[in-house]
Parts: sequence; structure tokens; C-alpha cells
Amino acid sequence: MAAKIISFVNQKGGVGKTTTAVNLAAYLASHGQRILLIDLDPQGNASSGLGVQKPELGIYDVLMGDSSLTQAIQATDQENLSVLPATPDLAGATIELTDHPNKLKQVLGQLKEFDMVLIDAPPSLGALTINALTASNAIIIPLQAEYYALEGIAGMLDTVERIKQNLNPSLKTLGIVVTMFDTRTNLAQQVEQNVRQHFGDSVFWSVIPRNVKLSEAPSYGQTINKYAPISSGAGAYKRLAQEVMQRVQKL
Ligand SMILES: Nc1ncnc2c1ncn2[C@@H]1O[C@H](COP(=O)(O)OP(=O)(O)OP(=O)(O)O)[C@@H](O)[C@H]1O
Ligand SMILES: [Mg+2]
Repeated sequence: MAAKIISFVNQKGGVGKTTTAVNLAAYLASHGQRILLIDLDPQGNASSGLGVQKPELGIYDVLMGDSSLTQAIQATDQENLSVLPATPDLAGATIELTDHPNKLKQVLGQLKEFDMVLIDAPPSLGALTINALTASNAIIIPLQAEYYALEGIAGMLDTVERIKQNLNPSLKTLGIVVTMFDTRTNLAQQVEQNVRQHFGDSVFWSVIPRNVKLSEAPSYGQTINKYAPISSGAGAYKRLAQEVMQRVQKL
């Protein structure tokens, strides 16, 4: 069976896309799912978060036809978890991809070696994100639990609708995940309630708390299940992984 492709998208910066993609990837892999994480953000945070520093080849080379997938994909120190890293020249791909929304889908092909491919998208609605949306079976939207959380999301949902109409009719929303939830504030609880009222069942039950371990782990090139497996952040991503596996089965 071909891998299920899931992109982490939100054009707002710093909402937890990369943290969610990387740690979810680790827990899914620990459940025996064969996972490929594609770092589609020129910042390369997902690559370094998985301990990959200054890769020679990356998704840019694959997109440009200068490398095969096999050459550019790297194993990580976790079983079942591979990464297709980002190199800085990916920033330039925005220009090359603008007229080619299907490019990523084409280069990925069938990918029978993996059960799931997770794509960490950059904070924009540019050509890289459009390529991610076109290639995906579904999206996960991380939403930071703060006052303006819902405002930015409208533009993005419009883009998703447009992609569905023109390029990828079967694109689904796997779910919305509330991130950086500060348990001590009423505001965070109000925001969560608001998001649930607005989006109903598409919001995952697992909420990701604000947890300093989650922000420390990437500087050691480690995922949370290695760095702090009994932290609140680890527990939350572990539960989220269960929900994601259940929803992916229904895709
Ligand atoms: N639950 C959390 N608790 C504490 N810190 C967090 C949490 N989630 C993310 N962070 C930190 O917040 C910052 C932004 O998170 P992250 O990089 O995952 O967001 P992003 O949406 O991928 O950002 P960008 O849009 O720049 O790609 C990072 O420094 C990260 O370590
Ligand atoms: Mg990111």
C-alpha cells in the first residue's frame, strides 16, 4: 500500500508545526509505523530536531531532479524513522515551484517503503506549502492556544478549499491540535473551548501543554520520547499519536 501523506500546516509562524511533526513522527515510529519525515521548511528545524546537521542532499535536490529519493533520505537513530532533510537552498525553490504545484507529488510517487509520510511545511502559503497540500492525503493544523488563534486560520482554510477544488479533491483535514496550552491561565481554556465550539470533532482530544522540555529537546537533536520521556509534553504527543493512528486508518 502507498504511504499516507500528512502535512503540518499553518501559515502563522511559531505555532508548533515542527515540534508536532517531529515528536509525533517519533511516537508513530515507536508504534512500528514506518515513518518518513520530510522537512519542507528552508529553516531546517525538523532536520536539526532529528539530529541531522548540514545535510549534503535534501528535498530541494530531489525536487530539482538532482538526487533520487533513496540518496537523499537518511536514517535516524530511531528505528522506523527516516528523514528527508531541508538544505538552505530550498528557500530558492519557491520560485522554481510556483508554476509546478504538483512537483512534490510527482517526485514522491508511491513510496511503498513507508506507512506514513509527514511533511513539515514552512510558515507561509507559498509554493512550498501549496506543493505539500497537493501531495497530501490529509493535513494536521497546529493551533497555538492564544487569543488570536482563530483569526489567522481563515485564510489558510480558504487556501485548503482552493487546493481541494483545483488540485487535490480528496484532501482531508485529519485534525486540529491545540498547542502550547498553558494550564495556569483561563485564557488558554477559553481559547480551547472556542476552538472546539468552532471546529467540533475535528479538534483532537489531546492538547499539547506548554512544556519547557519540548523546547529544549531540539537543541540536543533529540525527540521528546528520548529527551524527556516522562514529561507532560511526551505524554501529550504519545496520546496524540494514538488519535492520529485511529484517524489515519479511516482515510
Ligand atoms: N508545547 C510547547 N511547549 C514549549 N515550547 C514549545 C512547545 N511547542 C513548541 N515550542 C517552542 O516554540 C517555538 C516554535 O515552535 P515550532 O518551531 O514547533 O513552531 P513552528 O510552527 O514550526 O514554527 P515556524 O513557523 O517558524 O516553522 C520553538 O522554539 C519550540 O521549541
Ligand atoms: Mg517549523
